[in-house]
Amino acid sequence: MELSLSTGKPETLETDCLIVGLFEDEEPAGAAADLDDASGGGLSRMLSLGDIRGKAGETLLLHDLPAVAARRVVLTGCGKRADLTPQGLIAATAAAMQALAGKGVASVTSCLTDLPLKERDSYWKIRFQAAAAEDAVYRYETTKSRKSDSPLPSALALWLPSAADRDAGERAVRDAAAIAAGSRLTRDLSNLPGNICTPTYLAEQAQALGATYDRLTVSVLEEEQMQELGMGSLLSVSRGSRQPAKLIVMHYRGAGEERKPIALVGKGLTFDAGGISLKPAADMDEMKYDMCGGASVFGAVKACCELNLPINLVGIVPSSENLPDGEANKPGDIVTSMAGLTIEILNTDAEGRLILCDALSYCERFEPEVTVDIATLTGACVIALGAHACGLFANDQGLADELLDAGNQCADRAWQLPLWPDYQKQLDSNFADMANVGGRQAGAVTAACFLSRFTDKQRWAHLDIAGVAWKSGKEKGATGRPVALLSQYLLDRARAADVQ
Ligand code: BES
Ligand code: MN
Ligand code: ZN
Repeated sequence: MELSLSTGKPETLETDCLIVGLFEDEEPAGAAADLDDASGGGLSRMLSLGDIRGKAGETLLLHDLPAVAARRVVLTGCGKRADLTPQGLIAATAAAMQALAGKGVASVTSCLTDLPLKERDSYWKIRFQAAAAEDAVYRYETTKSRKSDSPLPSALALWLPSAADRDAGERAVRDAAAIAAGSRLTRDLSNLPGNICTPTYLAEQAQALGATYDRLTVSVLEEEQMQELGMGSLLSVSRGSRQPAKLIVMHYRGAGEERKPIALVGKGLTFDAGGISLKPAADMDEMKYDMCGGASVFGAVKACCELNLPINLVGIVPSSENLPDGEANKPGDIVTSMAGLTIEILNTDAEGRLILCDALSYCERFEPEVTVDIATLTGACVIALGAHACGLFANDQGLADELLDAGNQCADRAWQLPLWPDYQKQLDSNFADMANVGGRQAGAVTAACFLSRFTDKQRWAHLDIAGVAWKSGKEKGATGRPVALLSQYLLDRARAADVQ
């Protein structure tokens, strides 16, 4: 979607549709009051019919208000004025966009920038509206032979009530557009089926990304090279699959060589059947989404490239399938990781940690300032936090705080869970340095504990995105999370570097 800024009185704005907010059981205020005045009370008269009260989720589409330049106005309920949150503003924007889907609306101007949002300036209000609208117009159609003929808005202008906010507005539009581009890439890759999106396909997509941006170089390690590096853990997972594993490395250079890079490591399991510890059939198709962590690294790298951030960044995506096969890992098998630590594989379905541990060891050679891994790692994290927050674990509280803050800022939230040594003994094995599973209790924590054994030389955080990366059911599809959180973290780091 084309994003721009728009200034002037709402009633004068030329657009196919204005989005205007309405608080619950209140007279029209802000932009809505401007339209009401311009139309000689026309808006109030419509409202007196009682078709909309301003509750969250309500929308009403109006046509041809007198003395209003826009042909349509969509009113969107914002709930109680005092209760408006970023999530509420996002939901109100999304509801308005949904009300316009399939209509003859090409251009939209959103006038929600003047809504009161605690501790948020115009920059953030524009970011939220733009992100919500971009989200709402996303459609996955790559593998449909019949594309939808129902049109969606293609241009969004964000209304700026005050010209003084122009700089902030421009920054917000630029950041939102880059993050949306990253998020779209993540969703497209994630939604592809496992028979198309294989490790080889992901590697090709990385190469394509590298060809697009001057500052990005991409290399791909093949199984032989991984063998030489001693990645026995990662390779044990791909042995049960006919698709060769790939270790994708995307290196973005936006700052001097002396600056240590930020490393993002994403689980790129293109299909997780569980291996010999086979998963039940129900909903197994959703395990094509087991590469969403890797896809979010692609998205964050793309956003960083689009923004030309003055940082160095390394994106690493270990990619493999996890299938049952005569060569596949068997429960009880012991493998040796690149770090030299031996692992007893008690459950072949706990494969994410097996590919990540070697990728995290490999990551050491970049001497990163910080390393963040992103993975659809455990069903236990879905039970703990649902779809609202991803789980965050870290061996450095400063890094944890920065990531939590980034997520809070852009409404792509994480919630910290403990990484206390108390949990480590659940990974004890009688036969190897550790087991790959720690029993039923605290499954998200013991998975993070496992990874922590391979990251003690790094400032490291782990995001378990199993609950947030995609939606199930009727709305099944990738969400693009946590590209916003990661990109925000990179933006914050770039700003901090600029100030120095
Ligand atoms: N990819 C799954 C985690 C997952 C499961 C994400 C369901 C989203 C929804 C991971 O590889 C896995 O299978 N984890 C196991 C670990 C267990 C065997 C310790 C799990 O969570 O059941
Ligand atoms: Mn698994
Ligand atoms: Zn998995």
